[in-house]
Amino acid sequence: MSDTVLEVQALTKRFGGLVAVDGVSLEVRKGQIVGLIGINGAGKTTLMNCVNGIYRSDDGQVRLNNADITRKTPHEIALAGVGRTFQVPRTFRRMDLIDNLMVPLLHTDASDADLTARAEDGLRQVGLYELRHNHGEELSGGQQKLLELARVIMLDPELILLDEPFAGVNPSLCRIMLQQIEKLRDASKSFLLVSHDLTSIYRLSDHLYVLNQGEIIAEGLVEDVQNDPVVIEAYLGN
Ligand SMILES: Nc1ncnc2c1ncn2[C@@H]1O[C@H](COP(=O)(O)OP(=O)(O)O)[C@@H](O)[C@H]1O
Ligand SMILES: [Mg+2]
Repeated sequence: MSDTVLEVQALTKRFGGLVAVDGVSLEVRKGQIVGLIGINGAGKTTLMNCVNGIYRSDDGQVRLNNADITRKTPHEIALAGVGRTFQVPRTFRRMDLIDNLMVPLLHTDASDADLTARAEDGLRQVGLYELRHNHGEELSGGQQKLLELARVIMLDPELILLDEPFAGVNPSLCRIMLQQIEKLRDASKSFLLVSHDLTSIYRLSDHLYVLNQGEIIAEGLVEDVQNDPVVIEAYLGN
């Protein structure tokens, strides 16, 4: 389909004898938030690491706007328009927030003034502008997650991969996170949103996949997946 941004086809990733991702296929269309849920250890982060090139998959394909990116490096995939946040935020503790955001763009030909303006704008979006001269280490865990989102906003990717954006984030920062994700979606960005926390992902997702022991065990609209006995069993049975 022409509006498919991300297409994962029969992707497999093994760690020795463990099949962490086992023949997973999924797709994300333009302007869609696609949720990926599953209990801890289901393979969600591993799948995300395969999509953005941190892990080399053993089998299957990843396509971005119909171009094969399966064997590309994380840097190449980022340049192709894929941004992501990490389950454990990657904050530079001794740098201020502006510098934290500028790091990924230092080797581009953008001017310092331009980068600073973009960093400030990113910080403003997530409510961290007042803290722009504070060091990374002064932020709470939730604020660090918002800083990661600000970095994504600043890089302006087409496809955004979010790994557990709400985990360990207090309710007021969660609200900012939710609002910003919805705002980006309204600007036609596409998302693969990974979480084991169901409330926010149920609210946001246009389409939902359920991963269990590396395999997709259900998919569909939120209300279909919510009431699927296979899903209830996978969550409550463990
Ligand atoms: N680098 C790795 N080396 C070996 N095993 C790993 C590695 N990363 C993840 N795993 C294993 O793969 C499985 C899926 O992990 P992960 O993708 O982190 O799950 P989730 O993000 O759904 O909690 C787990 O059994 C985990 O222990
Ligand atoms: Mg994970």
